[in-house]
Amino acid sequence: MLQLYSLFILILDLVILSFKIFFAVIIALYRISRPPPLKSLNREVAVVVGAGQGIGREMVIHLAKFYAKVACIDINKAACNTTVELAQVSAVGITRTYICNITDKNEVTQTVKSIRSELGEITMFFHCCSIPAVSSKVLSRSQEDQPEVKNTVDLAILSYLWLLEMVLPSMELAGKGHVVILSSVAAFSTTVGQNRIPLSAAQFAVQGLAKSLQTEFRRSNNNIIVTLVHIYPFVLSAEVYSDIRFRIPSYFGAIPAKEVAKQILDGVRRNYLEFSVPGFILYLGNISRIFPKEVSFMVSELLHTGIDFG
Ligand SMILES: *[C@@H]1O[C@H](CO)[C@@H](O)[C@H](O)[C@H]1NC(C)=O
Ligand SMILES: *[C@@H]1O[C@H](CO)[C@@H](O)[C@H](O)[C@H]1NC(C)=O
Ligand SMILES: *[C@@H]1O[C@H](CO)[C@@H](O)[C@H](O)[C@H]1NC(C)=O
Repeated sequence: MLQLYSLFILILDLVILSFKIFFAVIIALYRISRPPPLKSLNREVAVVVGAGQGIGREMVIHLAKFYAKVACIDINKAACNTTVELAQVSAVGITRTYICNITDKNEVTQTVKSIRSELGEITMFFHCCSIPAVSSKVLSRSQEDQPEVKNTVDLAILSYLWLLEMVLPSMELAGKGHVVILSSVAAFSTTVGQNRIPLSAAQFAVQGLAKSLQTEFRRSNNNIIVTLVHIYPFVLSAEVYSDIRFRIPSYFGAIPAKEVAKQILDGVRRNYLEFSVPGFILYLGNISRIFPKEVSFMVSELLHTGIDFG
């Protein structure tokens, strides 16, 4: 009798689950043609880590146009000042420079405290330091200099943990917040040799961090949104671009950092949980995962990108 009952419950659960899956798919399909509205960014206090160059700089310039208060964190004071100056040309929000060595926990604590007292509680968090366009200098040194390997990993993943440890509690208290995690697949390129391996490994750590935060916040139901953005290498600046040979360059033409920042912010403002720039590529991975691993190697060799879409 009890067995029959639990069988009944199981079947009921499965039926309900299939309905839920069905509706999730329908909504996802509907969202392709009619994306969710862009949320307003005024009143947001955004922190952009790695604001001195590349995507970080473009992120700041773009955010500042939407009435957001932006705290620009970088270790390079002159570069960060330039970002602030560029942003202020078209900015309607406040942009301010904060100099911080983000691999140093004490400096992170101090910096977040001063952002809090000067701009208010942090509500949005962007970390743009582990994108190879930004850290390729760190990488190229890593060939001769072993401590640089540690620096790469510290910058790409350890800094996330120090920063989030400071930023998340106040988001949890406020019951809202948006954490944007960028991960780049450029690091997986096989054409550039061994020195990319530390960064490549760190990219997976960053993706794992995003997914565990998403699971955690879904469980605790506290309205903190974690967005994972996959950036594909052919979008990046000439610095990295020259490293990667393309078989079909026109097809995978490079997208300038400015456009990447715009696409990232659009996805973030729509509260997407995971997307890629360019947008369609995330799905290539889903398709290629159906096939044996060998197939994805063959496709990436054909394209000469050295990128493993799976
Ligand atoms: C950056 O800007 C701040 C404030 O505007 C200024 O005090 C500082 O000297 C500037 N630093 C550099 C390196 O330009
Ligand atoms: C940043 O901080 C770390 C940890 O304290 C230290 O090892 C590193 O040398 C610092 N880097 C710079 C450029 O000051
Ligand atoms: C594609 O794969 C990613 C994981 O890499 C997953 O998050 C996403 O939901 C998948 N998309 C579809 C349409 O299956």
